[in-house]
Amino acid sequence: MISRPSLGVQIGSLRLKNPMLAASGTCGYGVEIAPVVDLSTLGGIVTKGLYLKARDGCEVPRIVETPSGLLNAIGLQGVGIRAFVDKVLPQLRAHDTAVIVNVCGETVEEYAEVSRIASEAEGVHALEINISCPNVKTGGIAFGIDPVMTREVVAAVRRASRLPVIPKLSPNVADITVFARACEEAGADAISCVNTFLGLAIDPETRKPKLAFGTGGLSGPAIRPLAVRMTWQAARAVKIPIIGMGGIASANDALEFLIAGACAVQVGTLNFSRPNIYTEIEAGLRDYLSRHGCSSLGEIVGTLQYPG
Ligand SMILES: Cc1cc2nc3c(=O)[nH]c(=O)nc-3n(C[C@H](O)[C@H](O)[C@H](O)COP(=O)(O)O)c2cc1C
Repeated sequence: MISRPSLGVQIGSLRLKNPMLAASGTCGYGVEIAPVVDLSTLGGIVTKGLYLKARDGCEVPRIVETPSGLLNAIGLQGVGIRAFVDKVLPQLRAHDTAVIVNVCGETVEEYAEVSRIASEAEGVHALEINISCPNVKTGGIAFGIDPVMTREVVAAVRRASRLPVIPKLSPNVADITVFARACEEAGADAISCVNTFLGLAIDPETRKPKLAFGTGGLSGPAIRPLAVRMTWQAARAVKIPIIGMGGIASANDALEFLIAGACAVQVGTLNFSRPNIYTEIEAGLRDYLSRHGCSSLGEIVGTLQYPG
């Protein structure tokens, strides 16, 4: 009998039943999409970014469609980590999927405190450290475009938590390998790669930015080749696992990231138009592994045949 290829992924103590995660900010806290997506079909969900306190986010308009992409400046609206733990997490525990909290902070101390609170709660499986949000005036990307600050935040979270620590890198840097190495040296268990690319859309009639915040973060299929390239570069620079993302809309897109060196992937923007894409991606991955004679996903990770 031919057994089904295994899609399971191990990242430190984090066990994912399959390599597909819903990306931060595109699935609320998970419970919002539960009526349309069977959360147990996902390897895990990454929550919307959480600070210590609740935040309102940016003024509207916060989202603009661009060719094959989405430009957003939500501004990390959220309920705050304590409300998440008290009110949302109990609902999420009913679903058989990993819960990864996207940790935000305006200071290193806030990152550590949010991480500590999340770690002490029952039902949080890992922490994704958001040092890469381009849509806030303080914190966010400021930590992710300076390797010294990156190291400081990751080390502080590492000290505050025993959960797997997964910093999320910004693509808005000249050399992503410098940041990947800084995270590894500071004790990260894995790296998420990447957040959105800084963009600007202008309304010619008003001569103003289309987003109220001004600039925004570009996501969706438009960024995929850039994100795949950065995933490949990061994977070659460090030994810890990479979680790749950026414009995934099919099994073949996910395969690009896996072959480039990611051990798991996140789907973001596609959640808005095709929230049930996960079953299609899973079927496509299984079919690919069978056709290529592989018994597990790990056999294709980082197998890019690069020229030269
Ligand atoms: C509307 C929106 C909100 C987002 N919010 C967050 C967030 O709170 N924290 C975070 O780390 N990334 C956030 N992201 C970035 C995504 O998690 C992901 O890194 C990025 O969109 C690239 O993946 P995609 O092209 O599949 O969307 C957001 C993206 C979008 C489109």
